[in-house]
Amino acid sequence: MTVQDRARARCHWLPEPDRKGPLYKALVDQLAGDIADGSLKPGDRLPPQRLLADALQVTVGTVTRAYREAERRGLVEARIGSGTRVRAQQAPASGFRHLSAADQNSIDLSLSTPIETPLRQQQLSALMERLASNSDVVLTALNYQPEQGNAAQRASLARWLSAQGLPMAADELVLTDGGQHADFLALQVLVRPGEAVASDALTYPGMIAAARQLGLKHLAVPMDAQGMRPDALDRLCQQQRIRLLYLMPEHNNPTGAQMSQARREAIVAVARRHDLLLLEDGVQYVAPEHRGQAFYQLAPERSLYIFSVSKILAGGLRFGALRAPASLMTQLGAGLRAQCWATASLPGAIACEWFESGMADSLIAWQWQELAARQQLMLECLQGYELNYHPCGLHAWLLLPDPWRAVDFVQQAAESGVTLIGAEPFCVGSQPAPQAVRICITPPPTRELLQLALQRLKTLLNEGPPMKALLV
Ligand SMILES: Cc1ncc(COP(=O)(O)O)c(C=O)c1O
Repeated sequence: MTVQDRARARCHWLPEPDRKGPLYKALVDQLAGDIADGSLKPGDRLPPQRLLADALQVTVGTVTRAYREAERRGLVEARIGSGTRVRAQQAPASGFRHLSAADQNSIDLSLSTPIETPLRQQQLSALMERLASNSDVVLTALNYQPEQGNAAQRASLARWLSAQGLPMAADELVLTDGGQHADFLALQVLVRPGEAVASDALTYPGMIAAARQLGLKHLAVPMDAQGMRPDALDRLCQQQRIRLLYLMPEHNNPTGAQMSQARREAIVAVARRHDLLLLEDGVQYVAPEHRGQAFYQLAPERSLYIFSVSKILAGGLRFGALRAPASLMTQLGAGLRAQCWATASLPGAIACEWFESGMADSLIAWQWQELAARQQLMLECLQGYELNYHPCGLHAWLLLPDPWRAVDFVQQAAESGVTLIGAEPFCVGSQPAPQAVRICITPPPTRELLQLALQRLKTLLNEGPPMKALLV
């Protein structure tokens, strides 16, 4: 058997490029065709470059050039340690996935949502009936609002958040269409295209997408068990001018890391030394007894805080807020006005009535209880495997045992009817992705369905990856 025969036998993707024009281009064209017709699927690994070069009897340089061009065209993704793989096409920009991408027949453990309960629907119906006969609410809904948002709603939200241990005043708030809008608004108004922002190396994909859309440089700060490391941040700040630091100190999405008080103070010291703005994202809402001090309490002069009802009441309401220092309010108001004039008042009217009536508190209390039961189920099911999670976390972070790779695990899970997200979409820049997956335990409508999904994952973990995932 010749070297070429041996290489051909080991190549699971064996193109037959047209050799008339530049060979590397023909290879990329064939790759694009094979992805388009489904012969290559998202996550499939391309053969190592030397192996393909031997199989096609071309130079390694030709294959390297083809892989590089394919990466530039967004067809594949190269990661240190996991080779070159076909990119998920539903997420061309950043892995910030569209909802419809979830397979309807699969049990979804990929989306971070509140837990389904008839109580939620009943409360919303009752609230809307009550609001429909309130002439103030109806009149307000017909009128334009100030750019910061309806004043009575800002006061109501500030009252509720203050009672939850997040003291704030109405005029410190800008109302937004949810947390993602607040993220985007803050970045758009406070950071100019080409300037740099930094975050945990693993962070919320919506932040990655927003920074990319706005043409910002997004730098990754190395993490440990508490999230970003102050020493690494300090070093990065000495090398690059960073304008804004994005933080999730209570509950990093996806890793579940929570910062101690000492860690928060160390980050503030670095921020003051290098004059960074701090944007704390509190959308993954945590109960007061599990929460540390917010950054805006530690460094009020430079910190913004994001709140949203999406994880506690309803993602569909699209209601959130950005709390900011007085010095930034005019700029943020002008930015919001340029985007949409002001947010509509009806979602806020519903959310505030939910809070004012006390119904929100009972619903949130129910969710914490149900979440605890689901976390217990997860611990029992995945006993012996390495899981990071927060008591108020809607998701857990599963570190895969060797030799599993996250892309293969996500694919095998999909084949067994469970939708998951691996580490890739959370990686900032070209950081290598850890072999880990995020498991959202809230989307299944019942505990039984969650258990079924977890059992399928356990079977995969126990059995290890199939041979075809190990072959390269
Ligand atoms: C950390 C974080 N920020 C923001 C959002 C988006 O929030 P919203 O649905 O309110 O736009 C999410 C949603 O998962 C999130 O996890």
